[in-house]
Amino acid sequence: MSKKLIIANWKNYPESLAQAQEILEFTNDYLESLSEKKEFSLVFCPPFVFTEEVSKILKTSHLEHEAFLGAQDIAIEDKALEVSGPMLTKLGVGYVIIGHSERRWKLGESDKVVNQKLKSALRNTMVPIVCIGEKTRDAGFKQFLENQILKTFEGLTADEVGRCIVAYEPVWAISTNPNSRPDTPSSALESISYIRDILNTKYNILDTQFLYGGSVNSKNAESFLKEKEIDGVLVGGASVNKEEFVKIIDIASKI
Ligand code: 13P
Repeated sequence: MSKKLIIANWKNYPESLAQAQEILEFTNDYLESLSEKKEFSLVFCPPFVFTEEVSKILKTSHLEHEAFLGAQDIAIEDKALEVSGPMLTKLGVGYVIIGHSERRWKLGESDKVVNQKLKSALRNTMVPIVCIGEKTRDAGFKQFLENQILKTFEGLTADEVGRCIVAYEPVWAISTNPNSRPDTPSSALESISYIRDILNTKYNILDTQFLYGGSVNSKNAESFLKEKEIDGVLVGGASVNKEEFVKIIDIASKI
């Protein structure tokens, strides 16, 4: 079984740098307590304001060997008004979330903009974590997914698509949405298999890494992580609760 990947998408939490440090210290203590080889990797995606400090902590602590730094967004252009790829890489950011549903649906980020940000991440040699997911699981959800995938990856070579991690994050399952509920592993697998088929047909890629995201917590993480087609989880709310987050890592370490 391949190493599971656990991505912490902190969104706009925690409220202070001291709390961010606490989460990282708590995770560090847990990692130090492990006596055996670790079968997981961690990526922390803090809000931009904490990126520099988190970068320093990841370099100086035990986390250095297990945890990587990610960003929640990237500017389209390298010379931009926003936080750009070159700025992020200087801070040691190796991963970037692209097309998160809250950007797509709440901030109105179009497929075209997502596609340009994806190209920006690749140009800056970061690993893009590309979020794909339907807004509602109705009769047309597969058509929706296909359309979103084709537009998101438009103009990319097979080699470039092969450098992406895909996070299947159904919008209705994300904890910030009213009446959200986690997807079931079987229906997440149905979507992941469908997305994999599209990537295989169009780009001849069969070995994309897939994450599941949407209300992942310590109670349901095992049911997703134990599936061999699910390479990891993208965790929002539970990733800023240090006890919850470490429980999820612990589950991944035992799969
Ligand atoms: P929750 O885990 O809070 O549902 O958030 C999921 C998410 O949006 C992670 O990117």
